Amino acid sequence: MSENQKKDSYKIAWLPGDGIGIEVLEAAKIVLDKVNLNAEYIHGDIGWEFWRTEGDALPQRTIDLLKTVDAAMFGAITSKPVKAAEEELVPELKGKGLVYRSPIVRMRQMFDLYTCLRPCKSYPGNPLNYKENIDLVVFRENTEDLYAGVEFNPVPDELVEVLKNISKPFSAFSTLSKGEFAISCKINTKKGSDKIIRAAFQYARKHNRKKVTIVHKANVVRATDGLFLDVAKEVAKDYPEIIFDEANVDAITMWLLKNPHNYDVLVAPNLYGDIISDLCAQMVGGLGFGCSGNIGNELAVFEPTHGSAPKYAGMYKVNPIATILAAKMMLDWLGETEKANLIENATAAVIKEGKVRTYDMGGNSTTLEIAEEIAKKI
Ligand code: IPM
Ligand code: MG
Repeated sequence: MSENQKKDSYKIAWLPGDGIGIEVLEAAKIVLDKVNLNAEYIHGDIGWEFWRTEGDALPQRTIDLLKTVDAAMFGAITSKPVKAAEEELVPELKGKGLVYRSPIVRMRQMFDLYTCLRPCKSYPGNPLNYKENIDLVVFRENTEDLYAGVEFNPVPDELVEVLKNISKPFSAFSTLSKGEFAISCKINTKKGSDKIIRAAFQYARKHNRKKVTIVHKANVVRATDGLFLDVAKEVAKDYPEIIFDEANVDAITMWLLKNPHNYDVLVAPNLYGDIISDLCAQMVGGLGFGCSGNIGNELAVFEPTHGSAPKYAGMYKVNPIATILAAKMMLDWLGETEKANLIENATAAVIKEGKVRTYDMGGNSTTLEIAEEIAKKI
């Protein structure tokens, strides 16, 4: 993960998506405007509407835009299972074999945004904190693993034949008829594992963090998680000053809840990282506080971890802090540390003061009122 050198001006792709993605990005813009980032914000089409009408939730023109920008802010997108998505296509596009895939997952893979960085901090005064002084940073591998997209349902005969011949455990499934079983491949590479684990250790070194915990299930998922753990042991040798720790993914969900203060930086393959980052976010306030950076060497896309919450769309009710903290992360990545700190400090002050709060925090302020209050404190 490389953090950039400051520039005189920036081009930022602005991707609200749909549902509440639109209003939380509007809120983040109020705060970004207040720190006077010299940036051109360029709107990009993305979301459910483009799936329905064009058969592509991430149109080529948006991919082209992403190739030209320094960073992107992304709101949220409604996503539905493949069959439900197909049913919603306009009639001309139905039956053409179009398959819905999550645009954020595609962006991560297309632009090799291999780091998913998810800091989870309990800001003092947040009534939703599970415990005080939680300060966890999750590094989630962002392009491989069960998210590789190599899936079969029904499983083709050729694959069944090969697996029958090379895998004893598979023979138990091979007698099932077509459509009775499905296969999703978990693919983890040495290179991909090395990149994310090194990013985690590098971050720990840079930010004076004491410990990196490798999350895996290598006792059962021996091939892929075994590889991840082996790579981690190698990488750790380059960071002797940082404590190397490892834990099974199931056990760590309990331990994290029991004593979050025992953890510092966590690094995990994609799906485990998805799960534990939600757990960690919940400990510091839940949906309204989980922010995320999808970071590659050339491009980074920042987003709230939450989804598009269609039932709240347009009500300006939801908490924009996750997205405002994502904007703060973007500034950090751009090398604009001072501006990033201004946003974080103002956000922390508003949380602490507790006068302006959205419903999740027990208040009745609107999404934009939170943003305006934060902007006022900058
Ligand atoms: C996340 C989300 C996404 C994921 C979904 C929306 C595809 O849960 O960013 O954590 O699974 O990665
Ligand atoms: Mg998730």
